[in-house]
Amino acid sequence: MGIERMAVIGAGQMVSGIAQVAAQAGVEVVVADATPDLARRAVDRLGQTLSKLVEKGKLAAAEREKVLGRIRPAASLEDCAGADLAIEAVVENEAAKKDIFRKLDALLRPEALLASNTSSISITALAAATKRPDRFVGMHFMNPPPVMQLIEIIRGLQTSEATYQAAVALAKRFGKTTVTSKDSPGFIVNRILIPLLNEACFALQEGLASPEDIDTGVKLGLNHPMGPLTLADFIGLDTCLYIAEVLHRELGEDKYRPAPLLRSYVAAGWYGRKAGRGFYKYGG
Ligand code: CAA
Repeated sequence: MGIERMAVIGAGQMVSGIAQVAAQAGVEVVVADATPDLARRAVDRLGQTLSKLVEKGKLAAAEREKVLGRIRPAASLEDCAGADLAIEAVVENEAAKKDIFRKLDALLRPEALLASNTSSISITALAAATKRPDRFVGMHFMNPPPVMQLIEIIRGLQTSEATYQAAVALAKRFGKTTVTSKDSPGFIVNRILIPLLNEACFALQEGLASPEDIDTGVKLGLNHPMGPLTLADFIGLDTCLYIAEVLHRELGEDKYRPAPLLRSYVAAGWYGRKAGRGFYKYGG
């Protein structure tokens, strides 16, 4: 089916990023958050981001208006009812995600598609919370979605070929490259990324080097845009720990065990950039 109207459900940077990508591709987007006020704020934030792009000469002012004209904040989840596809990007919590999908399943037309931006939770398990597991797929955007070229497409056990093809076609319309993964913990990207970030935590914990030298070593030595500790702060240490725990529990191998240092930072509330403190300090 052609996707002309999308709902994006969640909070924070991923939601505005996904909404931006979709609206720039000409799709009508409704943004839903926990409250109407938060949804409005997500759309306002996006307006500011687009203004910066206009100032930098990377986006025409008229295009900014067109893009924003395609995005509206939802007054409630019911506003998502007309969507051809609803993508969920709420916090990594299986119960919270299932709750949203049950509600969306009841609201959306039977032929509409459901997608999750989860970075680690089983697509098969989330799909099983709905009556349309064949029309359910994983679409994992990388952070920040407007800048990153990749979308991982995850096929759940019951994802139909037509749903998979619709997700790939939508990602192509967004101008993105796709990779296809089976529904396995961490999929492709986080299966490889999180052990790398976790190893950087072990290295720091063992006093191998300073945070700056670990980051510079990987950044310049491997030509990564960010060092692993900076990237972990950027993703959120709570999210990194959550994914590390999923890999450890579900793949059952010792090599995936989360570094105690990562656990203690999360216990302290040092979640990274969003908390003002992680491996580094941010803000004032
Ligand atoms: N829309 C369009 N363009 C945007 C934009 C937006 N919303 N926001 C920023 N940009 C553009 C900027 O204008 C800039 O373009 P120019 O270079 O042409 O000026 C470019 O993107 C880079 O932005 P910044 O100058 O603000 O920042 P930067 O150069 O320091 O790059 C970064 C920031 C893109 C985040 C870069 O450091 C990077 O690629 N880091 C690695 C990010 C990464 O690995 N992400 C994946 C995380 S893992 C994940 O997401 C999976 C998971 O489940 C955990």
